[in-house]
Amino acid sequence: MNKATRKAIIAGNWKMNKTATEAAALIADLIPAVKNADCEVVICPPFTDLVKAVELTKGTNIHVGAQNVHFEKSGAFTGEISADMLKDLGVAYVITGHSERRQYFAETDVTVNKRTAAALAAGLKVIVCVGETLEQREQGVTAELVALQTKIALGGVSADDMKNIVIAYEPVWAIGTGRTATSEQAQEVCKNIRAVVAELYGNAVAEATTIQYGGSMNAGNADELLGKADVDGGLIGGASLKPADFAAIVTAASK
Ligand code: 13P
Repeated sequence: MNKATRKAIIAGNWKMNKTATEAAALIADLIPAVKNADCEVVICPPFTDLVKAVELTKGTNIHVGAQNVHFEKSGAFTGEISADMLKDLGVAYVITGHSERRQYFAETDVTVNKRTAAALAAGLKVIVCVGETLEQREQGVTAELVALQTKIALGGVSADDMKNIVIAYEPVWAIGTGRTATSEQAQEVCKNIRAVVAELYGNAVAEATTIQYGGSMNAGNADELLGKADVDGGLIGGASLKPADFAAIVTAASK
């Protein structure tokens, strides 16, 4: 992390876990556990928990994010949620391009870009996820693939909008597998992503952009991963559902 030029952000992606009732209990445990954080703390519960999450975190240092957003403003899109709907609830962040959306819900780089643009237009901060599969890593195309995903996701995003963009490097092979990227692998790709941002927007913007690592980050490996110069935070899945573990990661990012 380089806290001199950018914000460290720890975000919990709860995925499809926790009913609203269960979310309230988890948030009640999280509030005291992260209250002394010296980094930004975000939780991203399912849509059905967002109202409760915003209400319960009011006046605390926890920000609320959604896990997805539709790119159209409104209309006949049954089952979808717009950026304005999220903003109106008091949601601050939204994740776009998570690999599970790409893998299971036909998300493409182009729709990631459309969702990102819609979220920015509504005044949301966006955590854009990029990352390679195991096959792509073994083929040696990680750098090109992640650069391509980043460039397409950021198409049409202005330099000024970049203050509302966080990029999360999530190698697909490390998600939910217990198999973490080594801190060197995480650093290498996060550094490459920063070089892509520099190519698009210049050094000052690149140095100010928060780039997270995600993929089996936990209380035991957070220190090591976050100790790397270009790893500015984490997007946490499984460990974000355990208050003590999430708090330990927040503590690691607060150093
Ligand atoms: P895990 O931390 O469970 O591997 O999930 C990472 C992730 O996908 C966060 O978005």
